[in-house]
Amino acid sequence: MTNNAARYDHVQVILHWLMAAVILFMIALGLYMIELPKQSELPVGEESVRAFYFLLHKSMGITVAVLIILRVAWRLTHKAPPLPDTVSKWQQKAAGAVHVLIYLVMIAMPISGFMQSLFSKYDTKFWGIVLPRMAEADEVMRESFNQVHECLAFLLIGLIVIHLAAAIKHRLSGTEITDRMSLRRD
Ligand code: HEM
Ligand code: HEM
Repeated sequence: MTNNAARYDHVQVILHWLMAAVILFMIALGLYMIELPKQSELPVGEESVRAFYFLLHKSMGITVAVLIILRVAWRLTHKAPPLPDTVSKWQQKAAGAVHVLIYLVMIAMPISGFMQSLFSKYDTKFWGIVLPRMAEADEVMRESFNQVHECLAFLLIGLIVIHLAAAIKHRLSGTEITDRMSLRRD
C-alpha cells in the first residue's frame, strides 16, 4: 500500500540519508584520528598522517554545517508528515524529542569543533584555503571547546543508537513507519 501523504518529502529524505552517511563518517573519522600518533611520537623518518585526517575532518565538518543550515531551514518551513494513530502518544512525543535533540546536537557539533579549532595554534583550513584568524590561540579556550565537542559527540552517538533501535523495532514489528523516510518511491 502506498500513502504518499504520510511520507517525508524528497528534499527531507535526500538530506536525511546524505547527512546520516556524512555524520556517521565524521564520528568514525573523529574517533579514529585522535588515536593517530603525533609527528613527535614517531621514529625519525616516519611521517604522521594525523594532520591530513584532522584537515579532512575540519573541512568536511564545515561542509556539513552548510547542509545542516539547509536542512533546518527546510524543516522549519516544511512539516513532518503526521504519524498514524497506531503509534501511541508517548511514542510520538519520544520520537519528536529525540529528533529535536538530534537537530540541536547536529547544529552544536560543527560550532564547538570550529571554536576549538579557532583557539588552536594551528590555522583552520577549508579544503586547503586558510581561513582568516579571528582569535588568538588560547589553550584554556581550546580545551574547553574540545571537552564540549567530545561530550556532544558521545551524546550524538547515544541519540543515534536510540534512533536506530526505534527504526529496527518498527521494521521488525512490521509497521510502515520506516517507509516514511525510505528512498524507494512506489
Ligand atoms: C557534524 C560535525 C562533526 C562531528 C559529528 C564531529 C565529530 C567528532 C568526533 C567524534 C571527534 C572525536 C572525539 C573528540 O575528541 O572530540 C572529533 C574530534 C575533533 N573535531 Fe570534530 N566533528 C564535527 C565537526 C567538526 C568541525 C567543523 C571541526 C573544526 C572546524 C572539528 C574539529 C575537531 C577536532 C580538532 C577534533 C580533535 C580534538 C582532539 O584533538 O581531541 N569537528 N569530532
Ligand atoms: C542509519 C540508520 C538510520 C535509519 C534507519 C533512520 C531512519 C529514520 C526514519 C524512518 C525516520 C522517520 C521517523 C518518522 O517517521 O517519524 C528518521 C527521521 C530522522 N532521522 Fe534518521 N535514520 C538513520 C540514521 C540517522 C542519523 C545518523 C541521523 C543524524 C545524525 C538521523 C537523523 C534523523 C532526524 C533528525 C529525523 C527527524 C526528521 C524530521 O522530522 O525532520 N537519522 N530516521
